[in-house]
Amino acid sequence: MDIPSDIWRCIAGFLPVACIFTLYSVNRTFLEIYLEKKYKAVDLAAYKSAKALLKHLKDSSYVHSVRVQPWVVIAKEPKACSWKLLNACVFPTHAFEENTEAEILKRLRKQTQRIADGIKKLPALQKYHIDWDEGPFQPEFYSALLDVIPAIGRGLSTLCLKVPLQNMDSLPCLATHLPKLENLMLTIHTDAFIASEICQKIVGLVVFVNSGIRTLRSLSISTTPTSMYLDLGPFFDHLGRGKRLTSFTLCIPFDGGHLADPGPLRRFLMNHRATLRSITLGTMRAAAHPAPGASTAKFWIRDTFKNHPSLPALEQVSLSLRPLRTDLSPLVQGLASLRSQLRVLKLSERPLECAELVRLLGVLGDAPLLRVLSLRIRWLSPEVVDLLAVGLPALSALDLHFTEVVHQESASDVASVRSEDSYGLSRQSELMLFCQALQGKRYAHWNLTRLAVPENPHGQMRWLDAMERVFVGCIPGLTSFGELVSTV
Ligand SMILES: *[C@@H]1O[C@H](CO)[C@@H](O)[C@H](O)[C@H]1NC(C)=O
Repeated sequence: MDIPSDIWRCIAGFLPVACIFTLYSVNRTFLEIYLEKKYKAVDLAAYKSAKALLKHLKDSSYVHSVRVQPWVVIAKEPKACSWKLLNACVFPTHAFEENTEAEILKRLRKQTQRIADGIKKLPALQKYHIDWDEGPFQPEFYSALLDVIPAIGRGLSTLCLKVPLQNMDSLPCLATHLPKLENLMLTIHTDAFIASEICQKIVGLVVFVNSGIRTLRSLSISTTPTSMYLDLGPFFDHLGRGKRLTSFTLCIPFDGGHLADPGPLRRFLMNHRATLRSITLGTMRAAAHPAPGASTAKFWIRDTFKNHPSLPALEQVSLSLRPLRTDLSPLVQGLASLRSQLRVLKLSERPLECAELVRLLGVLGDAPLLRVLSLRIRWLSPEVVDLLAVGLPALSALDLHFTEVVHQESASDVASVRSEDSYGLSRQSELMLFCQALQGKRYAHWNLTRLAVPENPHGQMRWLDAMERVFVGCIPGLTSFGELVSTV
């Protein structure tokens, strides 16, 4: 029987990817689907494999995304009895080293040429990612990869760049080759370069972003904690205005080490208030700073939302609650001004105590549009579930991050849960009692359909199955209960 390929495709749509990967021998359509999935995104991180892969994929429209992580090209291992080696032993002069250097350069040219040519021969490329592990690098490699952009830029909608500071000079002239660029992700790593050098080089980056910002829908900027003298203030001060920018992400060290004053960031956000629908402010470990920054810098996230900035299009906010031990009120106040427009709220990093949750819900309680919430809580208790069910009845998806379950807020003593000698037993009985407490409940007016929680990080017993049973029992509309990948 001849079943049309569209029907096979429809069937494949219901199968997990791992399963599809085993079905390529079933028929031509499954082989095609397998190839599409397998080569949709390729990674090039070593010469031999990259060369083979690109040769294999020549002119193939399976590839939509390429990520290149340049390697360091070294000299060929001298063969055990090569003439050169013998020569070097007999005449131990610099000639050998010079030869090696010239040889490395030759190999570098050859390899980068091959890779660049291979990438140019991928007709359906939409996403191009140049990555860097911050290790030793050869700037020529990055130049060669950037020089590919004029050839492939017409089709690109997404560009991710993490390139050495030295290579930023060549960015400005690339912008005109990216007419359809919608998503730009930049990671800035300035290592030990001093401020004046950074300023000079970062101009190239600013010009590049500004030439492309007219078409951009999303802009994402990250820095690395090892960028010692980086300050993003001037960068934001000089960024232009994009008419279509709907999503903005900034991820920097939590201590604000790269943003001494959030003023320029606020101005940048306000310039885009008509279109910005999503803002993500994330953090990573503290910056390696030679001198301590301003003591208020660590409040950059809170201060960005200070005094109720007017962002009328904003509906999705994702914030890292940092620093961990400070008064939450100012930030909660900032969120209060957004409560009538928020659809998605994600708060990460800081585990909220029950009392803090009460305060947050007091502010969000009448958030009429809020449907998706992601929170980190100190521990899961029946009280927390009650609070969320009553406080946010219209919520449809909830991600809860926690590492402990307790059966009662006030009486549960963390010390007892955590004490070494009663580890397994006490955790197990807390879970049992938690489940018992929920078993009798029914949240008939909670519209929640999707709930995700992490698996027990302590590993003695799995708790997902037990929780699924009780939650499905007490939340009538719950259709999906899943495991969160814990980010503790
Ligand atoms: C829950 O969903 C129903 C049906 O979609 C809707 O009528 C009701 O208003 C929702 N409840 C809340 C609190 O939004």
